[in-house]
Amino acid sequence: NNLKGRGVWRYKNSIPGIYNKLISLNEGNTPLIPSKIYKQTYYKFEGANPTGSFKDRGMTVAISSAVNSGYKVVTAASTGNTAASAAAYASRGNLKIYLVLPKGKVALGKLAQSILYGATILEVNGSFDIAMSAVIRLYKELGIVYPLNSFNPWRLEGQKTIAYEIAEEIGAPDNVIVPVGNAGNIYAIWKGFTELYEVGAIQKIPRMIGVQAEGASPIAKAVEKGLDTPEFFENPETIATAIRIGKPVNWRKAIKAIKESKGTALSVSDSEITEAQKKLAREEGIGAEPASSAALAGYEKAIKEQIVDKDEKNVLILTGHALKDPDAMLKMDSKIILINPDHIEKIVLGDTNANN
Ligand code: F0G
Repeated sequence: NNLKGRGVWRYKNSIPGIYNKLISLNEGNTPLIPSKIYKQTYYKFEGANPTGSFKDRGMTVAISSAVNSGYKVVTAASTGNTAASAAAYASRGNLKIYLVLPKGKVALGKLAQSILYGATILEVNGSFDIAMSAVIRLYKELGIVYPLNSFNPWRLEGQKTIAYEIAEEIGAPDNVIVPVGNAGNIYAIWKGFTELYEVGAIQKIPRMIGVQAEGASPIAKAVEKGLDTPEFFENPETIATAIRIGKPVNWRKAIKAIKESKGTALSVSDSEITEAQKKLAREEGIGAEPASSAALAGYEKAIKEQIVDKDEKNVLILTGHALKDPDAMLKMDSKIILINPDHIEKIVLGDTNANN
């Protein structure tokens, strides 16, 4: 009876593979929140997943597949969210997990989660891309280790349910705006919409708009310059550490999704990302991490450049929770005031007058 459909597994019939046992934390079923600022615009808040990011959708499928195939040891390279999610689901599935992380480049909340769930953490002095190639080598040389990165197709089969959930609530949007790092998710969401279109459940496939940080934007640059193959970034840099990736493993898939959906990719600066993060929190009430906020920064740029129309039906994928990266929040302008408690009335007086 653990095959009961909740969240991602409601769509079990559309997820390939034979599962005698599901390793699940009831991931998925995340809120689609209407924007207060832009009518016809919605935020798909993936921060509401069990470990706080969309990775849980892919991880439940990948870990279930590993368990059903008899694997005992799993591994993943990560900028942090894949790590936290993989560690949680490995615990749930009784698997040993090795995480390969770029030392000093993983946001605090994500590193803390990986520690909490008991993963063995292997740090490399270098970028995510170096960690990723180490995992690929390990997997190719030692087939006994199951890889949980998004080149694993089961990950994407789980993540495509983002599209299914959106379509169930509002049908097919005109544009879907997605932050892009290792470039799996944009493809997964496009695949989900494409499957719905092919069975006649929706009448069109949304344009997929990828957003990257300027300092780590190989796909945005390739699309901009009309290149078939991206020029990789040797030293990617951005405050959005989740998408600090110079050589995305899924670049071919991402470019296919963008081209076939008649979408595009663009890049945004770190200050645009921070402004968007504040706007989401302070005007919409939604706490998203920097990489996720890049979706809003990219959306606003796309409106300005008339790539999208704000009166179309648009969905922004907010991939991870704000709590993932406390340092990013603590650097923001704040209203913290040290007070003498006896004088508290004086400080709030202006506000109470306004209430009268
Ligand atoms: N947003 C967040 C919060 C992420 O953690 C990631 C990727 C992305 C967007 C980009 O998704 O890689 O499918 O294009 N994080 C990976 C990780 C790389 O290791 O956690 P993508």
